[in-house]
Amino acid sequence: MAEGDKKRVVVAIDGPAGAGKSTIAKRLAERLGFTYIDTGAMYRAVALWALRQNIDPGDTHRMEQLAMAAEIELAPGRIRLNGEDVTEAIREPEVTSGASKAAVIPGVRRAMVAKQRAMGERSSVVMEGRDIGTVVFPGAEVKIFLDADPGERVRRRFQEAQGKGEPVSEDALAAQIAERDRRDRTRAEAPLAQAPDATYLDSTSLAIEEVEEAILRIVRARIANGKEFH
Ligand code: DC
Repeated sequence: MAEGDKKRVVVAIDGPAGAGKSTIAKRLAERLGFTYIDTGAMYRAVALWALRQNIDPGDTHRMEQLAMAAEIELAPGRIRLNGEDVTEAIREPEVTSGASKAAVIPGVRRAMVAKQRAMGERSSVVMEGRDIGTVVFPGAEVKIFLDADPGERVRRRFQEAQGKGEPVSEDALAAQIAERDRRDRTRAEAPLAQAPDATYLDSTSLAIEEVEEAILRIVRARIANGKEFH
């Protein structure tokens, strides 16, 4: 097949925290042979850098500069910030909260969106976040809005925390998730919202395999029209 017949594909997965985006996006990327891109990890990396320098993640001017200067590399399952592997460090609770504050700042979002678009130019991707189908790639071939009941999302995050031995109460997690949901959905710039042409999937009572199969069917219907991916 001629090189020109091959088309790069974007599968955009948006939704609130705990809906299952990361788990699903990773599995889909593997099945499809696409690059997996966790855009939340990018906002987290910028927040981590700020916290380490005692910069308030809500400081509009300084955060915009940091976001533009940050060298962020995503390798399978790992993230590097300015050459340092920060995969574990970005999952700390202060970073989670800092990322949510940083993500409100338009300049930070502009810098991240530019990096994300460049990644989507290089190869076919499964990209997960909050604004992928609405802002980063409004022309994405496949758009999924993955949701789940708030109670179920808290339960999943609680299990995850317990699995890692993190000392956190279910009530505290519920409060944190509610606060992040509120900030993500109400910010002026690129709030979490379903794109009009996205498929809504509620994962509350579905197994991971069922969600994966449902999305794969959509991917195949939309793009497997005789042309190869990549
Ligand atoms: O998905 P996550 O929890 O790792 O995301 C961390 C924060 O970044 C979260 O508060 C929402 C924000 N975010 C965003 O605003 N836009 C994205 N595309 C991805 C994440």
